[in-house]
Amino acid sequence: MAHKHEVVEKNVGLLGVLVAIVISFGGLVEIVPLFFSAEINEPAPGVTPYSALELEGRDIYIREGCYGCHSQMIRPFRSETERYGHYSLAGESVYDHPFQFGSKRTGPDLARVGGRYSDEWHRVHLMNPRDVVPESNMPSYSWLAEATINSKKTADKMRAMQTLGVPYSDEEIAAAAGMVDGKTEMQALIAYLQGLGTAIRGAR
Ligand code: HEC
Repeated sequence: MAHKHEVVEKNVGLLGVLVAIVISFGGLVEIVPLFFSAEINEPAPGVTPYSALELEGRDIYIREGCYGCHSQMIRPFRSETERYGHYSLAGESVYDHPFQFGSKRTGPDLARVGGRYSDEWHRVHLMNPRDVVPESNMPSYSWLAEATINSKKTADKMRAMQTLGVPYSDEEIAAAAGMVDGKTEMQALIAYLQGLGTAIRGAR
């Protein structure tokens, strides 16, 4: 028996493969059950797909790289929940493709920023953050107030989400262009921000 083990010890390739198999058991035991857990895969109560305008706003959030300074993931620690509200639930991001959890916090977490400020506060803040928070180092995004949404692409974006399992109805997709027509990128971004984390009742 002793010399069989020697085969493994003297063959670094075989040793590597066997080590990988042993270690992957740990990962499999933790990760695989999540694929079958309703709590992870089903939307949390009250969570609905983004409206057409919110979805466009989300694309602007991604385009402008807001995630480079803001996370959207409240961890289950007291220091986090006291500042930001209820910790983030997996069922809150089932319609997020791709999710915006992030990890860099130059600015505060935004997972529950919805409803914390008025639309007007957000407008002034995005035009020039220092007008409302004098010590802010967030860049200004004033051009968003002039750029309008390209409504021709909205329905396609929703259809793409449909293929990923977001339950948009055909009526919602047909009405999409009308919902965003003439809206500025800033209006869309603010609509998106105002919806963040509001679905969970009593979460804030
Ligand atoms: C260079 C880093 C940086 C980038 C990029 C950035 N922010 Fe910020 N953001 C901050 C900082 C710092 C603060 C805190 C000071 C303030 O309120 O301006 C902040 C605050 C905020 C707040 C207020 C949050 C609260 O709870 O008070 C919102 C909303 C916000 N940012 C949205 C955005 C959006 C939307 C974008 C992308 C268009 C963006 N930020 C890009 C750094 C950044």
